[in-house]
This record gives sequence, C-alpha cells and structure tokens, in this order.
Amino acid sequence: MTQIPRKELFDERVLLSEKQVQSCVSRMGTRLSKDYDGKFPVLIAVLKGGAVFLIDLIRAMGIPLEIDFMSVSSYGSATSSSGDVKIIHEIRSNIRGRDVVVVEGVVDTGLTLRYVLNYLRSKEPRSLEVCTLLDKEPCRQVEIPLAYVGFKIGRDFVVGYGLDYDEEYRNLPYVAVLEARKPKEK
Ligand code: IMP
Ligand code: MG
Repeated sequence: MTQIPRKELFDERVLLSEKQVQSCVSRMGTRLSKDYDGKFPVLIAVLKGGAVFLIDLIRAMGIPLEIDFMSVSSYGSATSSSGDVKIIHEIRSNIRGRDVVVVEGVVDTGLTLRYVLNYLRSKEPRSLEVCTLLDKEPCRQVEIPLAYVGFKIGRDFVVGYGLDYDEEYRNLPYVAVLEARKPKEK
C-alpha cells in the first residue's frame, strides 16, 4: 500500500520564518558563549526534536564545548505527551561536576523535561540549565525553570526545525502550524 505523505493532507502556516529562527539561534549561541566561557560545558540534545537546534546552536558558539544526546520515549498521542517517560538512549559522557545545558526543540507540558532533568541531576552535574527554542508556556503542567528560551508561542501544535508530526516535517527550515487542507473549490 502506498503511504500518503502528510504533506498532502495539511497546509502549513509559517509561524517563524527561517530567517527569524536563524537570527534567534545566533543570538542564543552568543549568549551561551558568554555565560559558559571557560566552563567547557556539555550540551545535551533530547532526541529527536532537539537535534536540529543543537547542531545549529553549537555552530553559533565560539567556545570549547562537548555535545551528547539522549533519547526518551513518551507514551501518548502523536500530538501530546502523557508524562509516562522512558529513557531509550542514555548519555555517553560523564557529566559529574560538569556544567550541563539540556537542549530542547519545544517545551509543552514540561513532563518529559522534568523526567530528563531528574535523570541528569542524579548524575551530579555542577550546574544544569535548559535551553529551548520554543516555549509553549500556556500548556505547562509542571513548573520548570527555563534559562534560555528562543520564542514563546501559544498552544498550536507546530512542526519543522526538528519537530515532527508522526515523524514527518522535521526537515523544514522554518516552524509552521499545520492546518487541515480545505477541499478544492470547483
Ligand atoms: P512535553 O512533555 O509535553 O513538554 O512535550 C515533550 C515532547 O513532545 C517535545 O519534546 C516534543 O517532542 C513533543 N511536542 C510537544 N509539543 C509539540 C509541538 O507543538 N510540535 C511537535 N512536537 C511537540
Ligand atoms: Mg514528536
């Protein structure tokens, strides 16, 4: 059976253009470089949503740093997490006594991140902060301090720049909201 690409079913409404995203990432990289100068931080992306952001962000940073990745599964629907989180892929580096920055694409309910932070905290880093490109503040269910936020957005489900709907759309260089495609007028 041929799978119908989601692109056939939805229209994209651009929320943040590629230019807006890139200049924000560049500003955030500069700020992180200042804050972590001389600290040799470890930036940890939460896969898969944080991967695209991390890869651009580190190239906007002019200081020595390390990167690592972790992967969690969150049981829920394609568009919302249940908070029932499991670690699929652990970090490889030893972060004890290190300055750690968790890099996320979007923080929604905050349930996934709360789990991730507890896991990382148990490894006794010297400091632990969060850097997210998008903050869906109106959806937050648990309070989490976010040290670095690119854009505050509303409740809309967004895709692109690493974020998916059912694994599609991660490769868009901009952030968009999906809207059901209206039937063509005859
Ligand atoms: P949270 O646990 O509700 O904060 O959401 C955790 C994960 O759900 C994020 O890391 C994303 O992978 C995914 N997610 C939440 N909101 C969106 C969205 O608007 N678009 C795409 N993925 C999202
Ligand atoms: Mg997803």
